[in-house]
Amino acid sequence: MTEPQKAPGKRRWLSGVRLVVAVAVAAALASAGVTALLVNIMERKQEARNPFYRVVELDDTITDPAVWGKNFPLQYDSYKRTVDQQRTRYGGSEAVARTPTKADPRSVVAQSRLEEDPRLVTMWSGYAFATDFREERGHAHMLEDQVFTERQHVTAQPGTCIHCHGSVYVPYKKLGDGDLIKGFEKMNQLPFAEARKLVDHPVSCIDCHDPTTMQLRVTRPGFIEGIAALKASQGVPDFKVNEHATRQEMRTYVCGQCHVEYYFKGKQKRLTYPWAKGIHIEQIMAYYDEDGHTDWTHKLTGAKVLKAQHPEFEMYNQGIHARSGVACADCHMPYQREGAMKVSDHHVRSPLLNINRACQTCHKWSEAELLSRAEAIQTRTFETRNIAMDALVDLIHDLQNAQKAGVSDEALAKARDYQKRAQFYLDFVEAENSMGFHADQEAVRILGNSINFSRLGQNALRPEGGASTSPDTRPQGAPGPVPPPAEGTR
Ligand code: HEC
Ligand code: HEC
Ligand code: HEC
Ligand code: HEC
Ligand code: HEC
Repeated sequence: MTEPQKAPGKRRWLSGVRLVVAVAVAAALASAGVTALLVNIMERKQEARNPFYRVVELDDTITDPAVWGKNFPLQYDSYKRTVDQQRTRYGGSEAVARTPTKADPRSVVAQSRLEEDPRLVTMWSGYAFATDFREERGHAHMLEDQVFTERQHVTAQPGTCIHCHGSVYVPYKKLGDGDLIKGFEKMNQLPFAEARKLVDHPVSCIDCHDPTTMQLRVTRPGFIEGIAALKASQGVPDFKVNEHATRQEMRTYVCGQCHVEYYFKGKQKRLTYPWAKGIHIEQIMAYYDEDGHTDWTHKLTGAKVLKAQHPEFEMYNQGIHARSGVACADCHMPYQREGAMKVSDHHVRSPLLNINRACQTCHKWSEAELLSRAEAIQTRTFETRNIAMDALVDLIHDLQNAQKAGVSDEALAKARDYQKRAQFYLDFVEAENSMGFHADQEAVRILGNSINFSRLGQNALRPEGGASTSPDTRPQGAPGPVPPPAEGTR
């Protein structure tokens, strides 16, 4: 009886030993595993911190992206792909073959917007844009497209143009004896052809990155000064973008260096972003009204008018994505995984060609659903844009007739002022390249105002002197325009 009693005891003891050994072995294995994992994590962290093999020493004088590409081959490869052309419903671009000439050696250009919509020629009558205006394409083309546009032949363009079409950081510093702003001021005043000789590359790594830390930086004087003026208008004095902006803001600001409304101020042709009162269209219009700047005199009506240029930064700031902290780079340069590394896609292009990485990181809808939501916004904007364009062309024709019919100078002046406003508001959406996507309701609100300005302009030409309901004559208490909300930018 004892045997059987003993046996289980011994067995229990034996199994206890086995358990201890097993636990010890398991613990040893686990700790080896943990150590291996830790080593791996540390290696990966190291990789992430220093995610490249330093093949060349970069410094603040190297413009050539191929040199930077030796250290960062993945970013460089995708950067080079900005030569690609592919259409989307309202964006991207179409490769149009052309016969090269001595004056213009390009064998491929983007489609002409003037041919797509001849009303643009009426709207810009007398301005360089009425001679040649094309769909924009990838960054690799920015220098050649600027050099060879026919707009160069109808107006003597200043060196200021190159600010946003080439890698000007090193050339500015050279021209300014080490002072970026001085070099900028000098180049603005050179004839375009002279300035062009000083620049070798389209936008390059050095324009957005510090060569030693690879941190994002803004190098464009136009933006450095523009954002400081904007912040000052919001009660933030002495804003220095490279010191005070957050990393997420920089992921938008590097694009805001160029994708903005601008004008050339005064005899010095100083590139200026008209943001000293804010970046809502009403505030920009008020800035121009006060400054007195206009871009050209309309050939058919004699109105002094303004053209808006690619206000992507300004419009994006009125949209739901900016409000939610989403940056330009989140959609236009989304991350790709390469091992432990997150690599930003430097093939900057339409996000609708890349919905999977550009949108589905945040939205769980299918690709087809996302595309259809984006295109629904764009189609609504496009239709409203077309109505606003018809209204403006009608006002222009009425003004032409009124001039012949001898309508009073006072009425003509009033109608011309409305033409300027209708034109600028319409152009603000027309020239913005997302067809409403960046700020859908704002785009349609602006177009609604444009249509109203055209209506008021037509009314001003009526024999009875414009009996119409306007902000000035609206019955007391009736709702009208609402001032823009005071809020920051992102
Ligand atoms: C939430 C995503 C998102 C953000 C954020 C965003 N965009 Fe876009 N952007 C789009 C979409 C979608 C289009 C429409 C593309 C099309 O129609 O093919 C577009 C169009 C454009 C285009 C025209 C592209 C083309 O192929 O014609 C430019 C230029 C542009 N955006 C610049 C910017 C800039 C600059 C910012 C920041 C100030 C910005 N975008 C912020 C999604 C975004
Ligand atoms: C503030 C920055 C900035 C300045 C200054 C600037 N551009 Fe551009 N330009 C852009 C951006 C951004 C695009 C792409 C978006 C677009 O086409 O709307 C562009 C597109 C273009 C294009 C291609 C599309 C088209 O319009 O046919 C040409 C050509 C061009 N610019 C010529 C010029 C000329 C000439 C000047 C000087 C009068 C100039 N640019 C000054 C930023 C700028
Ligand atoms: C140095 C000025 C400059 C900077 C900085 C810049 N762009 Fe551009 N961008 C341009 C110009 C100029 C064009 C038009 C080139 C052409 O048509 O030849 C353009 C074209 C584009 C296009 C149209 C591409 C296509 O395939 O149709 C997109 C999208 C775009 N930029 C987005 C961005 C985003 C996002 C950023 C920031 C990460 C950015 N850009 C930074 C000047 C700039
Ligand atoms: C128009 C601005 C712009 C230009 C030009 C540009 N980059 Fe970037 N780059 C960015 C942005 C935005 C990020 C994302 C940075 C962040 O999130 O902090 C980035 C990130 C990077 C990173 C960090 C790792 C990663 O992929 O996110 C490296 C390395 C890099 N870029 C290399 C280059 C090289 C090399 C070139 C030239 C061939 C270049 N960049 C040109 C805007 C630019
Ligand atoms: C970094 C995250 C992020 C990315 C990337 C992003 N979105 Fe969004 N999107 C948001 C947020 C946040 C909202 C606000 C609504 C919400 O909170 O869900 C929003 C709203 C929207 C809306 C509703 C707009 C409205 O006016 O109500 C649409 C449509 C949309 N996104 C489409 C897209 C598309 C298309 C892309 C890619 C080109 C994209 N988003 C990329 C975060 C993102």
